[in-house]
Amino acid sequence: MTRHILAIDQGTTSTRAIVFDDRTRVAASAQAEFAQHYPQAGWVEHDPEDIWRDTLATMKGAIGKAGLQPADIAAIGITNQRETAVLWDRATGRPVHNAIVWQDRRGAPLCARLKEEGKEALVRAKTGLLLDPYFSASKLAWLFDEVEGLRERAEAGELAFGTIDCFLLWRLTGGKVHATDATNASRTLLFDIHAQDWDDELLALFGLPRAILPDVRDNAGLFGETDPDLLGVAIPIAGMAGDQQAAVVGQACFEVGSAKSTYGTGCFLLLNTGAEAITSDHRLLTTVAYRLDGRPTYALEGSIFVAGAAVKWLRDGLGLITHASQTDDMATRTGDNGGVYMVPAFVGLGAPHWEPDARGLITGLTLGTTAAHIARAALEAVAYQTHDLAEAMEQDGAAKLTALRVDGGMAANDWLCQFLADLLDLPVERPAMLETTALGAACLAGIGIGLWDGPEAVAALDRALDRFEPHEVAADRRALLDGWRKALRQALTD
Ligand code: G3P
Repeated sequence: MTRHILAIDQGTTSTRAIVFDDRTRVAASAQAEFAQHYPQAGWVEHDPEDIWRDTLATMKGAIGKAGLQPADIAAIGITNQRETAVLWDRATGRPVHNAIVWQDRRGAPLCARLKEEGKEALVRAKTGLLLDPYFSASKLAWLFDEVEGLRERAEAGELAFGTIDCFLLWRLTGGKVHATDATNASRTLLFDIHAQDWDDELLALFGLPRAILPDVRDNAGLFGETDPDLLGVAIPIAGMAGDQQAAVVGQACFEVGSAKSTYGTGCFLLLNTGAEAITSDHRLLTTVAYRLDGRPTYALEGSIFVAGAAVKWLRDGLGLITHASQTDDMATRTGDNGGVYMVPAFVGLGAPHWEPDARGLITGLTLGTTAAHIARAALEAVAYQTHDLAEAMEQDGAAKLTALRVDGGMAANDWLCQFLADLLDLPVERPAMLETTALGAACLAGIGIGLWDGPEAVAALDRALDRFEPHEVAADRRALLDGWRKALRQALTD
């Protein structure tokens, strides 16, 4: 009998549930977009109740569409937008505040102060990260500093913190399990990635009580079972990972030197560095790629905050397009970029610049500039940033990339994939099934229940790929990168 696995992919703008069969073929999926809240410039919040409502609805929707019953699901895997912080009441399960999203910059003053006090080296050595409001710790510190009574309640053990994986696990198990996994923990700024444990010195730095923290587990294994009141049966939750790390698994980047780049709301390039946690000299992050049987595998990560979000802005903010897929044709039609460059620093700039206060700009406008040029500039910007990350990885002495595996919604854009291959001078490989994040969560859950033995068995699964070979455009490449760097300098000095 076929055994099915349900993956929950809780992303920044939508929640998806996908049912996979035991050969990792998609049986059915369901998706719901949810509200983004922008209470002030640079702040981004989600209502955790929206996320929970959509999670349950899409789980039920996907199981129903697959013609299955909940009892047919052998295991659940969870993957999620990382860093986004939720704090809830242990007694009621109710969040005490909206979730503060990874894109939210309100922790910037605290991070700046700690930097001035010379704390970045310590933070970097333990966590592999930088002092940036992107990560969870300064978001949590803001909650404790600004919302009255939270600190006392937390110290009395009444409150629980978690990233979205942890909050969903809590809700799915009916409040029985307060746990996260090593990849999500590694994004909080509170977790020592070498010791694989929460760190008291870091907690003290951000003024956070230890009592709020979840247990940290491997990415595959039994996390808990669904409360039978939810779906009528108890289903094991057997895999959990942050979405970018889940994509590493879904793309089978298990060998040292293999890399993937996921183009969702943002873009995240992760390079597997094996058992060695490489410290970057170019402000890339060192992070946990996955932890199985207690053994962490590390990655170097370049995080770009805006990729698909720029195309969403073309659609929702500017009304230049009605559907993201139009940008493919628009970019092709223009023939060249007409000297137009976009630096999509809408929420500051991530790697390798880490400038929370930088803001976006479009340069090179003339009366000949069309909507198509602006659309093309948004796509090109994603490729330039990917190029800068790959270059920084190489300069860090990590293995030179021999190919780049891409995925995420924006990777459906053929023009972008070809432009990336040309710019990086590397083959770009795109799986036919672009939902590699969900696939990774399903693979982890499958490993967790013993359906697959481990990474080797996952790597051996059949994967159809499109391959984009680089064209000979060295001179263009230099000119394009010069144009990009000029625009970037402007965004960084404004
Ligand atoms: O670190 C943030 C990342 O996990 C968000 O991913 O897919 O929502 O862009 P995504």
